[in-house]
Amino acid sequence: MLATLLTSFLFFVSTFSDVTADNSLCPSGWSFSNETSYCYIVSDRYMPFSETSSYCQSLGGTQVFISLSYEFTFMKTFTQGLFAQPWLSITRDPTDNKWYNPDGTTPFISWWSTGEPSLNGDCATFKSTDPQGMKATPCWSIQPAMCKQMPAICPDPKKIYGGQYTRSGNITSPGYPVQYYNNLDCLYTITSPNKTYITLTFNPYLVEGYVDYVLIYDGPDTTYPSLGSTSSALKLEYESTNNSVTLKFHTDRSITNKGWLLKWNAKSNTPPVIQSGNGGNFTSPNYPNDYDSYTEQMFYLTVADGFQVNVTIDDFLTENRFDVLEVYDNYTIPGVNMIANLTGDSIAPWNWLSQSSHVTMRFRTDGSVQKRGFHGYWTIQ
Ligand SMILES: *[C@@H]1O[C@H](CO)[C@@H](O)[C@H](O)[C@H]1NC(C)=O
Ligand SMILES: *[C@@H]1O[C@H](CO)[C@@H](O)[C@H](O)[C@H]1NC(C)=O
Ligand SMILES: *[C@@H]1O[C@H](CO)[C@@H](O)[C@H](O)[C@H]1NC(C)=O
Ligand SMILES: *[C@@H]1O[C@H](CO)[C@@H](O)[C@H](O)[C@H]1NC(C)=O
Ligand SMILES: *[C@@H]1O[C@H](CO)[C@@H](O)[C@H](O)[C@H]1NC(C)=O
Ligand SMILES: *[C@@H]1O[C@H](CO)[C@@H](O)[C@H](O)[C@H]1NC(C)=O
Ligand SMILES: *[C@@H]1O[C@H](CO)[C@@H](O)[C@H](O)[C@H]1NC(C)=O
Ligand SMILES: *[C@@H]1O[C@H](CO)[C@@H](O)[C@H](O)[C@H]1NC(C)=O
Repeated sequence: MLATLLTSFLFFVSTFSDVTADNSLCPSGWSFSNETSYCYIVSDRYMPFSETSSYCQSLGGTQVFISLSYEFTFMKTFTQGLFAQPWLSITRDPTDNKWYNPDGTTPFISWWSTGEPSLNGDCATFKSTDPQGMKATPCWSIQPAMCKQMPAICPDPKKIYGGQYTRSGNITSPGYPVQYYNNLDCLYTITSPNKTYITLTFNPYLVEGYVDYVLIYDGPDTTYPSLGSTSSALKLEYESTNNSVTLKFHTDRSITNKGWLLKWNAKSNTPPVIQSGNGGNFTSPNYPNDYDSYTEQMFYLTVADGFQVNVTIDDFLTENRFDVLEVYDNYTIPGVNMIANLTGDSIAPWNWLSQSSHVTMRFRTDGSVQKRGFHGYWTIQ
């Protein structure tokens, strides 16, 4: 038993890392690093340090410097077998004689090769052998450039999920269910039919705590008020006030996990009709005028225990098959206690006596063709 568990665990771990060595994420000729989620390339052409920045820009990238141990590990494999040592963007500041990356950070001493940094130059290359590491190099030396760029991992931020005619859908994080990537800021905008609001549920949600998270905004872009973040108290359910919501998935530069599956649903803004006592009347919204598209109206009718509900519908007109009144004896368990699914123009007059003391009805309409709807009444029996 233990052996089986161990085997499956090991299998899982190896799948987890191998799948991500995925050069198809990068432009042709570039290599993907699962350690950093960036694409890397070393130029065929050699050049002095002063030309490397514009060279990398011309390829749509930036120069490389080492900013974390994962990247150093990747660099060791990536530069193996290179004929010449490629440039890094780190330089020595002549005023304090210290080495700085372009973002102002300083490298770990262990990223330097043995005996480095020497006084032999104010620029640096990556030495791939004996032993591997950074090496001070005169800036005028002629070496290959090394560039990196972000692969197109996020979906197009202009893509709209859902739309005027969609009530539900799923979105997954990039790479789900295998592994998401580092250094992401992916945007997702969901819209739903007019007069609906959107509920969001993340399940599963397997994400590095606090530093990787999804931010949720209550509108069609990130300028709208925040509804919160999955990082705080691991809140995994959200509700918009209107028919659009925007998500931003942020990941930091290290450690990933499997990611998340988001299910969203558009809910109708119509409050439920709740009636009890001896009897009452009920109608579709706007009756006798046309109901709206994408309505979802609930009705709850309750009489005292031991009594029954005598329901009569004396007028009924909906778009056949698409705009439907479901009637349930007791609560909504479709297929179990749904006793009628009313639609079309030949329903009324309709009468039914419940078994239980509780009747639930749900009126649902689609996006096209609105009609008068229905009128009905009920009495205690
Ligand atoms: C990256 O992939 C390599 C081999 O495919 C694997 O050995 C390594 O553990 C992976 N690194 C990370 C950070 O997932
Ligand atoms: C969303 O995913 C669930 C399973 O997790 C599936 O049952 C459902 O059909 C999916 N919905 C859509 C709109 O893809
Ligand atoms: C939804 O509302 C927008 C703006 O009010 C309107 O332009 C659009 O036609 C409406 N769509 C439907 C399907 O009613
Ligand atoms: C909801 O969105 C509609 C457009 O779809 C807009 O006309 C309306 O003002 C919004 N309501 C709120 C409360 O933001
Ligand atoms: C139901 O409507 C009828 C007229 O259509 C009215 O006489 C009756 O008082 C209404 N009953 C309730 C409980 O509102
Ligand atoms: C239910 O109400 C209808 C209409 O008021 C009536 O005709 C019918 O007899 C009632 N059913 C029972 C079982 O009392
Ligand atoms: C009721 O009927 C409509 C169309 O005939 C169908 O789409 C819907 O799924 C039915 N509802 C239930 C709960 O079976
Ligand atoms: C109605 O539903 C409630 C809650 O599910 C249940 O406790 C009750 O037994 C049901 N009544 C009947 C008559 O089925």
